[in-house]
Amino acid sequence: MSDTVVLNNLHIKDGENTLVNKTSLIIEQGEIFGLVGESGSGKTLTAKAIIDLLPEGLNYTADEIITAGKNMLSASPEAKREHIGKNVGYIPQNTVFYLHPMIKIKDQIGDGYIYHMHKNKKEALEKAEALLKKVGFENPITVLNYYPWQLSGGMRQRCNIAMALMNDPKLIIADEPTTALDSTVQRQVMELFRTINKELKISILLISHDLGLVRHYSHSLAVMYAGQIVESGYSKTVFRNPKHPYTRLLIKIIPSLKIKKSEPLAEIPGFVQEKGRDIKGCLFIERCPKAMDICKEYVAEHMDDMQDHCYRCNLE
Ligand SMILES: Nc1ncnc2c1ncn2[C@@H]1O[C@H](COP(=O)(O)OP(=O)(O)O)[C@@H](O)[C@H]1O
Ligand SMILES: [Mg+2]
Repeated sequence: MSDTVVLNNLHIKDGENTLVNKTSLIIEQGEIFGLVGESGSGKTLTAKAIIDLLPEGLNYTADEIITAGKNMLSASPEAKREHIGKNVGYIPQNTVFYLHPMIKIKDQIGDGYIYHMHKNKKEALEKAEALLKKVGFENPITVLNYYPWQLSGGMRQRCNIAMALMNDPKLIIADEPTTALDSTVQRQVMELFRTINKELKISILLISHDLGLVRHYSHSLAVMYAGQIVESGYSKTVFRNPKHPYTRLLIKIIPSLKIKKSEPLAEIPGFVQEKGRDIKGCLFIERCPKAMDICKEYVAEHMDDMQDHCYRCNLE
């Protein structure tokens, strides 16, 4: 059974307001797929739609959502929860603070394993010990007896990664996994993801606002802007020949890309709009150095070869 992830034509709405629009992506079995874009562009919501964890009050439609060979759209809520629990490891945004600080690692790391894989506590601890070793701890038993507050941010993130690996998932979704870490620890954690991807053949959806990081670690990527994917393809192809003016600008400012929600980009004037995301024309028009009159009415979709290089722009 193929473990390819397919997301086809996802729309997410908050009442009448469109948050994510016409979003499609394919994560090939065993690859690291980078989903990149400024804060507020819809990366987290897209990931949450894939694992059926959208916040209450938001609704979505899609033509297809397939994870680990299963079509999620036709599954019952219970079947979805079970399938996701067994096959997808999720490291949510801000997870450096995800583990409960006052509960020992050993009393929380195995919860999903016990629940979804029908194992007992002893089996869970044996597996956790092996995985803590795998993610680089020399003394896993000591770590199991720690409270999360006794660990550094990088160590906590390693525990989160071990926890995400407990059920032998086919896919790990890591949402801004290194944002809260300093650059040396960031590199160590990313190297760990790379090792996990290579050795265990687990696909990784790497979500980040940092195109520099995604460039370095992903095989394929998608650039998201205001709820839409504006460019996607093999990372090497996109970097060799970026087509969308937004991607080009992001590449230009790689070292200085640190933006908070609704703050203007240092080098790209303007904001990512929160409303009016379902217009016919181009969403980037206000900030685009190459905008043309036609961009108000229409955007050409160069989507011929999903695997290679796709973009939404009127420039050739
Ligand atoms: N629960 C929610 N209710 C309403 N709007 C939301 C909710 N969660 C996120 N949004 C909005 O959806 C958009 C995309 O958010 P998100 O996916 O978190 O972006 P990203 O992860 O790329 O920073 C933003 O404009 C955000 O304000
Ligand atoms: Mg996010």
